Amino acid sequence: MENRILVKDRYFVPYIPYERLEQAIDAVAERINHDFKNFNGTPIILCVLNGSILFTGELMKRLNFPCEFSSIRLSSYEGTLSTGVTRKVLGLTSSIKGRTVIVVEDIVDTGKTITDLHALLLDAGAADVKICTMLLKPEVYKKELKLDYVAMEIENRFIVGFGLDYDQLGRNYKDIYILDTNTPRTMRKHFLIFGPPGAGKGTQAALMIERFGLRHVSTGDLLRREIANGTPLGQQAKTLIDQGLLVPDEVVEGMIASELDANPGVKGFIFDGFPRTTAQAEHLDRILADRDGKVDAVVSLMIPDETVFERIRHRAEVENRVDDTKPEIIQNRIDTYHAKTEPVISYYKGKGCYREIDGLGTIDEVFDKICAVMKDYE
Ligand code: AP5
Ligand code: MG
Repeated sequence: MENRILVKDRYFVPYIPYERLEQAIDAVAERINHDFKNFNGTPIILCVLNGSILFTGELMKRLNFPCEFSSIRLSSYEGTLSTGVTRKVLGLTSSIKGRTVIVVEDIVDTGKTITDLHALLLDAGAADVKICTMLLKPEVYKKELKLDYVAMEIENRFIVGFGLDYDQLGRNYKDIYILDTNTPRTMRKHFLIFGPPGAGKGTQAALMIERFGLRHVSTGDLLRREIANGTPLGQQAKTLIDQGLLVPDEVVEGMIASELDANPGVKGFIFDGFPRTTAQAEHLDRILADRDGKVDAVVSLMIPDETVFERIRHRAEVENRVDDTKPEIIQNRIDTYHAKTEPVISYYKGKGCYREIDGLGTIDEVFDKICAVMKDYE
């Protein structure tokens, strides 16, 4: 078992080794075998994808009575929950009418999913539905539904491995790992991707998070999310963004502090579109210092104003950003950049962490230049 693994942008440390999982599966399989020894009929083992794929495989190898196999997914919640069960069973291949079904889950926490599924399967005509879960978080399980077979109980922590994922990654580890909330904060790295509108900050940040395992924080994206959700903050921001002006410093500063605090176990951050004023840069230094951190490097993509126009005009054809639509708004964004954001360059030059890169060239060429700079911080 690895001492520490990086899954996407977070560190995880060992929690349950495979050998202990095997013992727990042996024990739960023995109980199921005992209960179904003289069963009259053929139960269906129902694997709930994706999480329980490894557990189901291990469990089935140990079952010694005739059984069929089927798998399903559950749709995400639709509409309001007050109207009752709003999920659907997807991909069920065998008919379960009149059959006994043993549902195999990877983990049960609050119990909402398993309770919904239990009801849906009975509605679909199953004669009996047994629940078998690899893991249970008893601290948070709130339902009356009896869980017939529980291989292991665990505390309420965030885990990956043995089928369980973080953002679809990490399922393939055979052991289970737990989010490392004890990584010293001083180990966290903080990078900025800087540059005028359309310089390629978002494009390159997407490549950087994958290559370097960093968490992306784009204030523009966060503000657009607020706008899409129609929050008061979003409404205030929309008026300014639509004109190509900056939103007030305090608004974005609050967002950054919450991102820093809401993400334990993260290897590092890449801030995109922040800071955009010297006041924001000073604020960032303060909030990082409060958390034992600092700005490690400012990766600055420089392109001339004509290229800004070209790239944003091109993006307007594929994306639907209001601030990309009119030349006068794009011009305002460029003017705002020169007036308010460009001074941030001298601020970071003074601190010795400013790394300028020519932002012209293909996306891959620019990324190669960024990787050459990032080598100094690995
Ligand atoms: P924000 O969303 O940050 O916009 P921006 O800074 O104007 O930058 P863009 O997102 O337009 O460009 P980008 O550099 O990410 O380029 P991209 O990779 O998309 O902010 C929006 C607004 O929110 C601001 O105007 C402000 O009002 C507000 N706001 C946000 N943060 C704030 C803050 N901290 N304080 C106050 N207000 C704030 O690339 C652009 C296009 O070019 C794409 O189509 C891409 O495919 C293409 N492209 C990229 N690289 C290349 C290449 N090498 N060759 C050819 N094409 C390329
Ligand atoms: Mg962007």
